[in-house]
Amino acid sequence: MIKLAPSILSADFSRLAESVAQIETGGAHLIHVDVMDGHFVPNISFGAPVMKSLCGKTELPFDVHLMIEEPDRYIEDFVTEQTESITVHQEACIHLDRTVSHIKSLGVKAGVAINPATPLAMLDCILADVDMVLLMSVNPGFGGQKLIPSVLEKAKVLCRTKRKNDMGFEIEIDGGITLDNVREAVDSGVEIIVAGSSVFGGGKPQQRTKEFLDTF
Ligand code: DX5
Ligand code: ZN
Repeated sequence: MIKLAPSILSADFSRLAESVAQIETGGAHLIHVDVMDGHFVPNISFGAPVMKSLCGKTELPFDVHLMIEEPDRYIEDFVTEQTESITVHQEACIHLDRTVSHIKSLGVKAGVAINPATPLAMLDCILADVDMVLLMSVNPGFGGQKLIPSVLEKAKVLCRTKRKNDMGFEIEIDGGITLDNVREAVDSGVEIIVAGSSVFGGGKPQQRTKEFLDTF
């Protein structure tokens, strides 16, 4: 099943619960929570208190994307009843195997993300242990950017590796996904679609959510 995870980075922060209710009504599967520290990426978004303010206001699980340095220091802050997964960047982890084990020890799915210029080979020794691989299809830090097409090739290769080795991780793509290119992303083997500005931009997140689901 293909899942849609709208990114609240592009939502109206002054009416976050309402924005989330709209994507929930529209049928979204997850809330993509983009955490940025101004160091790993050149932008600051929000921290665990903002995510936690949504607990109980929605049934949707949280798909937490940590674009931060030293993620080990903050992982536990993002564990709630509604946290489905916590994804760290391979580029930000000195001891990725230990970080992945730490996330899983908390009863949460462990994801690893790689930036567009990071080769898949950097994940060779961790693929068997993760629950999800997040392929950044933009350079992280901002919503509303254009998809980097070479990442779709990466998704195809990763999907082949997964199938050949009968591995269980899900493949997520994150950045620049629109109604015009989402079909191509799905055909590349991606199973979780992150979409921020194309869902929340334009003021009709419920309708946009439905339009995305209609393409799957
Ligand atoms: C970028 C974030 C993405 C971004 C997606 O650093 O990780 O999740 O918010 O936004 P769009 O879909 O507008 O590219
Ligand atoms: Zn993200």
